[in-house]
Amino acid sequence: MNLRAGRLGKGMEDEAADFTSSLEFDHHIFEADVDCNIAHTSMLAREGIIPHEVADKIIEALRELKEEGVEALDMDPSVEDIHMAVENYVTARIGPEAGFMHTGKSRNDQVATDLRLALKDSIQVISHELLDFIDKIADLASEHTETVMVGYTHLQHAQPTTLGHHLMAYAYSLKRDYERLQDTLKRVDMNPLGSAAMATTSFPINRELTTELLGFADYMRNSMDAVSSRDFIAEAVFDLSMLAVDLSRISEEMILWSTYEFGVIELPDEFSSTSSIMPQKKNPDVAEIARAKTSSVQGELMTIMGIMRALPYTYNRDLQEVTPHLWRAVETVKSMIRVVRGMLTGIRVNRERALELASSNFATATDLADLMVRERGIPFRVAHRIVGRLVTRALEDGLGPGDIDSGYVDEVSLEVTGDKLGLDDETVRKALDPLENVRARMVPGGPAPEMVRESVAEIKSFVRSE
Ligand code: ARG
Repeated sequence: MNLRAGRLGKGMEDEAADFTSSLEFDHHIFEADVDCNIAHTSMLAREGIIPHEVADKIIEALRELKEEGVEALDMDPSVEDIHMAVENYVTARIGPEAGFMHTGKSRNDQVATDLRLALKDSIQVISHELLDFIDKIADLASEHTETVMVGYTHLQHAQPTTLGHHLMAYAYSLKRDYERLQDTLKRVDMNPLGSAAMATTSFPINRELTTELLGFADYMRNSMDAVSSRDFIAEAVFDLSMLAVDLSRISEEMILWSTYEFGVIELPDEFSSTSSIMPQKKNPDVAEIARAKTSSVQGELMTIMGIMRALPYTYNRDLQEVTPHLWRAVETVKSMIRVVRGMLTGIRVNRERALELASSNFATATDLADLMVRERGIPFRVAHRIVGRLVTRALEDGLGPGDIDSGYVDEVSLEVTGDKLGLDDETVRKALDPLENVRARMVPGGPAPEMVRESVAEIKSFVRSE
């Protein structure tokens, strides 16, 4: 039945109907739409706007529909969208009295309400998966508080750290992603229902009641804003894009660290693939696809902002085109969390190789300069010059950090400043030892095992408190 024939003499041309239908992605809001109709109909009856007996019949049909699922609906494109399909279903069940359910309601406030209800659920699901990932990262970090590796800046060896410290960097960035989603939830959790097409209704509806029945924190205070705003979607998709970026950076490091050249980790077989021609290959395809899908999620955000930018108030059908981008971002990020979590928590770590990299390329040079400042009271800039020269010379002489003794330091210092430093061999050796380096960095947030253990405890208690 064409419920909205209204002033139109003819139904829409087939391709135009297909072109404008949202049914393809409306299944995401199926349950929300039924709940929204139940709440609105109950409210209409309780406020004496429609007869109780009619409301009971409508609600019973809607409850049956929820049991039967979305497949029970006629999703022919000529139906236009899920709101019409649901009303058609109820009409087929109970006859024209079904029409009472649309009293004081428009598809404009209804779709905004449905989207908010469904997005609230999706945010909760994603947040839950994310918390679990953060917890697992903290567990892995606690196993690696003494696994020394080199840290990078500009992707050049910088200073020694531990894998535990590095993993906790992931944990804290994902914690912010989680918090961002929780904050967004406050702005999603607002009820537009009752705004009707844009200017509410002259029926004495009760917005507090539908707000309570649908479990929203509050209702939206301006009906024009309520039907025309999708900023809550843009915001959520930004949060998802940022989360995807963080997952992509983890993926990138998995790709890098598992190369022969780095050799620091091996990826789990279940999250790798091989080549159809080169039998020796173990490829990080899951990480690569995660890295690429991040761009798709960012694309969804750009498209959403683009659709919204020039829309006059209030509802315009363009808003319908925002929705598929939301669900694509939600679905992509949901599976990204799961696969990146599976991949990261299944890595095998080559501790010897990690230590070798941290020990062989003067990543400890900063500590040698610090030692000169501490023991001999020279300005850091002078120490920086001495050590810079020392590293250049050592590389020319084919020496590594383990070959440097106090005599070598004095030769260079004499050349650079005209003075010897007279440090003893043991202190020089210690300054150049990556594990000693790490242990000495007892600053909160730093890589010393005690500090990383504190971070792990903090993150674990955060996860428990959520
Ligand atoms: N399918 C539409 C959407 O997703 C529902 C609202 C339609 N409203 C209208 N006046 N045509 O936005």
